[in-house]
Amino acid sequence: MLILAIESSCDETAVAVVKNKKEVLSSIVASQIDVHKEFGGVIPEVASRIHVENISYCVEQALTQANVTMEEIDAVAITQGPGLIGCLHVGVQAAKTLAFAYHKPLVPVHHLAGHIYANELVVDMKYPVLALVVSGGNSELVYMKNETSFEILGETQDDAIGEAYDKVARVLGLGYPGGPKIDKLAKEGNPICPLAKPKTQGKYDFSFSGLKSSVLQYVKRMERLGQTFEMADLAASFQECALDEIFDRVQKVLNDYPDIQHFVVGGGVSANSRLREKIEELKPKYPQVTFTVPPMSCCTDNAAMIGVAGTIAYMSGRRGDASLTADSGMEIQ
Ligand code: KG4
Repeated sequence: MLILAIESSCDETAVAVVKNKKEVLSSIVASQIDVHKEFGGVIPEVASRIHVENISYCVEQALTQANVTMEEIDAVAITQGPGLIGCLHVGVQAAKTLAFAYHKPLVPVHHLAGHIYANELVVDMKYPVLALVVSGGNSELVYMKNETSFEILGETQDDAIGEAYDKVARVLGLGYPGGPKIDKLAKEGNPICPLAKPKTQGKYDFSFSGLKSSVLQYVKRMERLGQTFEMADLAASFQECALDEIFDRVQKVLNDYPDIQHFVVGGGVSANSRLREKIEELKPKYPQVTFTVPPMSCCTDNAAMIGVAGTIAYMSGRRGDASLTADSGMEIQ
């Protein structure tokens, strides 16, 4: 089973060839970070245009590196959503064109399902699974009774955690993307700055926008009072509050759902070193649960994960046709 997978939901143009669900024959990622960091964040129109410029070359490279031809491919998997609509359109049009020109089945895939299934590249997932998806656009806790069922137990009520990292980094003048920069700076500081604890209504939901404002207010207050502070301490304080919010909910779910066999993480923020430490700290408390964090290369957006998700969707019979369009608010499936 050879799947050609395409991902273009945000600022990475990615194409991969995946064999038999787990073997990544090629994974091409053309990142646009250098362009967007000039603006301090992703500019959707600019991102779409760069996808148009990159997509054909990425497809060609993915096939060449995998040493396969389009004729040998069994199906074309594509991220249908969620994401930036103009960006998604570029990938969807490319996938439709390839599928119809070469008479291959088209398999629409959900971006977050891809982040979750990225763990399959490391280990066989054991169900029921609890998946924590933490990226620039999403923060969700998903319960999967089996390989193809997704129940959202909790989600952010405002900003995604990665978005909060990026906005706080902007306040601190650290540049884009902010996550890795705060991660690094926080190691040199202590979480001693008083910040407002996030408040949420749903038992397993998250909130990050109040925390982000609290960082801004802290900086303004210190400036007003003419007092200095260590940026590293503020970075560490923000990070600790944000991750406490996540891990408080994770533990609630693990306590309430004793049938969970496997805890997996996905999305760009799963590259965070403190998040990985916190997962290590959780392990002894839940000895019946297997904990998996995907390799760094699979945390941020890539098409190998879409190839895995595409294989699972293909096997379960999901198909797209000529009417398939990008869906920026797609529900997980
Ligand atoms: O999954 P991803 O590549 O794109 C989306 O689908 O959103 O995630 C990008 C996000 C950015 O917000 C970035 O700041 C964050 O992941 N990120 C991190 C780290 N590395 C990337 N956040 C915290 N710590 C990191 N080490």
